[in-house]
Amino acid sequence: MGQSALVTGADSGIGEAVAIALAAAGANVVINHVDAHEAAEQTVDKITAAGGNAYAIHADVSDEAEVQAMFAEMYKQYGTIDILVNNAGLQRDSKFVDMTLQQWNTVIGINLTGQFLCAREAAREFIRRGVVEGRSRAAGKIICMSSVHEVIPWGGHVNYATSKGGVMMMMKSMAQELAPHKIRVVSIGPGAIQTHINQSAWQTPEALNALLTLIPYNRIGEPEDIGQLAAWLASDQADYITGTTIFMDGGMTLYPGFADNG
Ligand code: BGC
Repeated sequence: MGQSALVTGADSGIGEAVAIALAAAGANVVINHVDAHEAAEQTVDKITAAGGNAYAIHADVSDEAEVQAMFAEMYKQYGTIDILVNNAGLQRDSKFVDMTLQQWNTVIGINLTGQFLCAREAAREFIRRGVVEGRSRAAGKIICMSSVHEVIPWGGHVNYATSKGGVMMMMKSMAQELAPHKIRVVSIGPGAIQTHINQSAWQTPEALNALLTLIPYNRIGEPEDIGQLAAWLASDQADYITGTTIFMDGGMTLYPGFADNG
């Protein structure tokens, strides 16, 4: 493949699986993390042990200067960027009336503004460099990690659902504006994927059973499911896809409550 990829929040969970899948497809991968240096180094070790090429960089994606420094460092190491996976994200859950401004700002800052800052840097480089013959049909690919909650309202998580709704419209508007530059922008909308972010939803049999009532396909997703999809979306096999969200959710967006009701 010979392309360079940056995956934000790649020290664990979905981001780690995406980084591993991109490296397995032949990309050089930057493993971004904010405060999990050891975990990020472990992701790097897994990739290098499998014959891939990766290294870790710290940056808080909601901080403009840190994002710009991370891209500068990546260009020193790998020369350029071909694939950005805007994955870093978090939850700060609260009942709406009790939600603090800090809980709101933290989630919007990382999940939405962080995706903006990284996408803007990547798009600048894609436009500057253009399409490289023989490397990819596109000048660059931006994959935004969204959620089923870009369309499924989520009480108790208003900040999170708002951030993902914002990611959806940011992704589509960027895709429209950047397509003439041969830049593809897409989102992945994961459903319930087994990671630490939703541990309370799967760690006891009771919680898992309740969760499975929301998933017609009757299994929780694995980070590797999303990793494979991201690698495919970044490839030229997906060259005609831009401006849309691919949901990977075992049917969670199919209103399972209506299966025999309504
Ligand atoms: C959230 C998880 C949740 C899943 C399905 C994800 O975006 O981060 O906590 O389990 O959506 O509701």
